[in-house]
Amino acid sequence: MKRALEPDNIVRYEEDGPKVVLLDQRRVPDEVVELECRSVDELVVAIRELAIRGAPAIGVAAAYGLALAAKLGEDLSAAASALASARPTAVNLSWALEQLRDDPTPARARALHAEEVERCRAMAAHAADLFAPGTRALTHCNAGGLATGGYGSAVGALRAAWERGLLERVWVDETRPLLQGSRLTAWELEAAGIPHAVIADSAAGSLMASGDVDCVVTGADRIAANGDTANKIGTYSLAVLAAHHGIPFYVVAPTSTVDPQTPTGADIPIEHRAPDELTSRFPARNPAFDVTPAELITAIVTEQGVQSPVSRV
Ligand code: MRU
Repeated sequence: MKRALEPDNIVRYEEDGPKVVLLDQRRVPDEVVELECRSVDELVVAIRELAIRGAPAIGVAAAYGLALAAKLGEDLSAAASALASARPTAVNLSWALEQLRDDPTPARARALHAEEVERCRAMAAHAADLFAPGTRALTHCNAGGLATGGYGSAVGALRAAWERGLLERVWVDETRPLLQGSRLTAWELEAAGIPHAVIADSAAGSLMASGDVDCVVTGADRIAANGDTANKIGTYSLAVLAAHHGIPFYVVAPTSTVDPQTPTGADIPIEHRAPDELTSRFPARNPAFDVTPAELITAIVTEQGVQSPVSRV
């Protein structure tokens, strides 16, 4: 299982095919199986259906996808626009495609992948500086190696804090409706040997009230110029709860997630997913992300360091 979390096993480009190969995150933790995408169309479906997910990881996958399109002689601007529109909220998709614009090669995509993992390691080290000994941290969704293509952002911070002996345990929000927390984050924490317990999303408030949470650490899908941050639905509620209980709320994300072109959180496009992820029996509304205003975020941590208080990023 630890090998499954190596960057190359999360997502890679193979010349033989050619193809983009990814760990199918829809089936984790029950099965560790790979999905092969031999065309951009197949990769777009894989991203849309969350076979690979998490903002930096879908950016890396899109980079490999553009390299695949170039190798197959496909129209690159059509490929880029199909990949960019696979999911609307994470800015990493369009960021990564822009990075490959002048050099859509496997070598450039692999370098971008390695750079994202390095950014994770750097931001994790900065974020761990914020942890006091004995911290009980709560995290939401999955901002681990699966979500970044290796190491992780929020989970990277937890790993770094654990290695420094500062982390006592992690509360893992199950993260309705698709359970990225109880399936993916718990699996990663288990692999890292970090004590953890899955909680129902609705249990977070009572754990905070009973004094069992010292900080909340999440990733981000897009950080607007004013510091407002989009992340998995439920993140905003956690930030409100954390503020009410005087608990620090940290966002850990690479600069590839920062979008200076988007002025505020109100300008971030929010993905709405199929109602049947919630119920096929009744009408449903299923926003996949929400926006946490900058004033509720104690610090934003990137590979460049810790920004606190959060104003313009
Ligand atoms: O719908 P998902 O699973 O792609 O949502 C992912 C998240 O919300 C993560 O917290 C975010 O992308 C940060 S990943 C380092």
